Parts: sequence; C-alpha cells; structure tokens
Amino acid sequence: MAVRPIPRIGDPVLRRPTDDVTAGQFADSAFQQLVDDMIETMQDANGAGIAANQVGVSLNVCVIGVDRNARYPYKPPIPLTVLANPVIRPLDEERWLNNEGCLSVPIRGDLYRRMNIEVSAQDRHGNPFTQIYRGLSAGTVQHEVDHLGGRLIVDRMNDPTSMTTWENFQRHGLEAYLERIAPIIARTEPRTDHTE
Ligand code: NI
Repeated sequence: MAVRPIPRIGDPVLRRPTDDVTAGQFADSAFQQLVDDMIETMQDANGAGIAANQVGVSLNVCVIGVDRNARYPYKPPIPLTVLANPVIRPLDEERWLNNEGCLSVPIRGDLYRRMNIEVSAQDRHGNPFTQIYRGLSAGTVQHEVDHLGGRLIVDRMNDPTSMTTWENFQRHGLEAYLERIAPIIARTEPRTDHTE
C-alpha cells in the first residue's frame, strides 16, 4: 500500500470524465492496488472521500468513509465503502445548503446538495449494490461522483462571496455552518434519546 500524490485544481486529470471500470479490471491486481492506495491516501489526508482521478487515475471509482474525522469533525460516520461505476438517483427534489472543502481545492464554499439519494454501484469486486444516503453523507457521495465526472466544488458555488480559506472558515464561518447543518444531521442520524 502507498499514499499517492493528490493532483490539485488545474490538473487536467481532475477535469476529464473518468472511464468506467470494466468487468475484467475488477480481477486485476493493479485495480485492487489502486483501491487500497486510494483508501490509504484518503485516510492519510483525513478526507471523507476520494476519487480515482484524485490519485491521477482516470477510472470511475471512488471511496468514501468517515469515522471521527479530524478534518470534518461534524460529519456523521460513513462505513468505508468503495463505489465503482456509481450512478446517483435522486429520491426527491429536496436540496440543502452545504459548505464543502476538497483535497484538490485549497478553499471551501457554499453549494447546494440533494438531501436524499439512492446510489447504484459495484463494490471493489464488481458486485452490484444499491445504497440510500441522506444529508451530509449524501453530500459526500455527490461530491465524489462529481469528481468522477470531472466536476469540482468551485463549479457549483453559486455565491463566490462564500469562498474562504480553511483557516478563515474555522475563524469566521464554522459556527454559523454548524448551526445551519444541525437540523440536517438531526434528521439523518439514528436517534437514541427517544422512541417513536
Ligand atoms: Ni474533493
């Protein structure tokens, strides 16, 4: 396993739509090594997700996983999941205003994400599955699938004045953001304080 370098905004590999993982590639040791390296690179950088083109490989596969993340301490946990050839199906029209960062982009900013999505994908061995994601976790999936299509967060930021450095987000934006997303998290997290 190895941590691979992460290309940054301006590198053409981030703008090229990725090629689907073919049936034959799943059995290829180079593909399995790529997935292992993506996981290690994501964890090394404290990312919530990483797309293959973020390690310079233009293939339609991403990894997501959140567990007490130092970079995004407010994010609910997501089990480590490999999504090959993912397709998002929105479950409704609801959207919410997130603020996102990216391992390939040095700024954060506000953008809208869908609240409820169903993802059809293949696991790292090519087995198909579907999974429903909501709220912040749905935002993470949409962010990575954007990467796989060559899109970056700056493409979706409808208010350029919301753009900040990470340092200034911590100083000036974090408190208001946490207030804004509290109801989103409350709706999507399993609640232990009462029964329905
Ligand atoms: Ni990103």
